Amino acid sequence: MVEKMRLLNIYSVFLLIFFLSRRCISSQCEKSNEENCDARKEKSCGCSISRGDVKNDDASDSPVAGSAADDRSKKYRPETNVKNPYVRTNEMVKIPGGTFTMGSDKQIFEADGEGPGRKAKVNTFYMDKYEVSNSEFELFVNQTGYITEAEKFGNSFVMDVYLSEDVKNAITQAVAAAPWWLPVDGAYWRIPEGKGSNIKNRMDHAVVHTSWNDATEFCKWAGKRLPTEAEFEYACRGGLEQRLFPWGNKEMPKNEHWMNIWQGEFPKENTKEDGYDSTAPVTAYPEQNKFGLKNIIGNVWEWTNDWWETKHTTDFKDNPTGPASGEDKVKKGGSFLCHKSYCYRYRCQARSQNTPDSSASNLGFRCAASTLPDYLKS
Ligand SMILES: *[C@@H]1O[C@H](CO)[C@@H](O)[C@H](O)[C@H]1NC(C)=O
Repeated sequence: MVEKMRLLNIYSVFLLIFFLSRRCISSQCEKSNEENCDARKEKSCGCSISRGDVKNDDASDSPVAGSAADDRSKKYRPETNVKNPYVRTNEMVKIPGGTFTMGSDKQIFEADGEGPGRKAKVNTFYMDKYEVSNSEFELFVNQTGYITEAEKFGNSFVMDVYLSEDVKNAITQAVAAAPWWLPVDGAYWRIPEGKGSNIKNRMDHAVVHTSWNDATEFCKWAGKRLPTEAEFEYACRGGLEQRLFPWGNKEMPKNEHWMNIWQGEFPKENTKEDGYDSTAPVTAYPEQNKFGLKNIIGNVWEWTNDWWETKHTTDFKDNPTGPASGEDKVKKGGSFLCHKSYCYRYRCQARSQNTPDSSASNLGFRCAASTLPDYLKS
């Protein structure tokens, strides 16, 4: 009898393992969370979408548009004084150099290469206090005539819940791994949701639909450069060791929203408790850490200069700059589309990737500099 029970037990453990392994088809998905193991979310669980991923496909099964509640929770303190559409947001903060633990042994998405934790040194540098805004990007385009890659390709990625029925109906391509990401004809930084959309009331919001190549050109024009991944993470951590967020481990410090992510059931409904359905002004929310940075996590994903690689040694690294070559560039910080159940990547150690020519409605950047540009010296 006891023998029989044991056999039965072993058998059920096997069944369980078999079942679990079937469920978690994608190695990139969070193991502990069934929601994240949907095969549709395979490439970084649908967080990142690159130009090469597009297939000619029927996109008719995409989720229906969500209607976000108008109620705004008192847990978000709206910023005042962000009315002027052309306010410059190119201010930089000094990040004092030091040694920190990059990545962590406590990985949440192992396949993303969040770990292992390794010591890295970063020299003193300057980091944009804010993400680059639409008005800052417009100034660049006004002065240089720059044409973004989204404009050259003639399309960019937008998540379907933000699209009008007209725009959605015109789309014939989709990405099998993440069907809610649609390549929208004519979408670029000025027309973020395609035909009929504009940024008139979003000049102080983070610019989006800018590829890595676009971001690099902008930073050059500004006398700056993109941050390395190590610089970004060091700046994000704000001098704290091994915390989830720039301010600590609590998602809602003081029971308030300090970042722009998704509240509600993803991808059905964004309840906007943090004040925003899509992008937020680059000046929104309190400073996220003692370096004085705003929106270093949440709002929009931010490009770094490093090529993507998921295997790291634990060797000490002195001002690491990432692999010498690769296919994808590292982006950090997560975006307004991130939700714990789906894309829990609004953490300092989290990372994701895209090809350098890719652009999307939740992908922007900020610049860094080794020395403060002269025009910013007071
Ligand atoms: C860019 O140029 C347009 C047209 O001249 C002007 O209306 C706009 O204010 C300029 N934008 C910035 C940020 O200077």
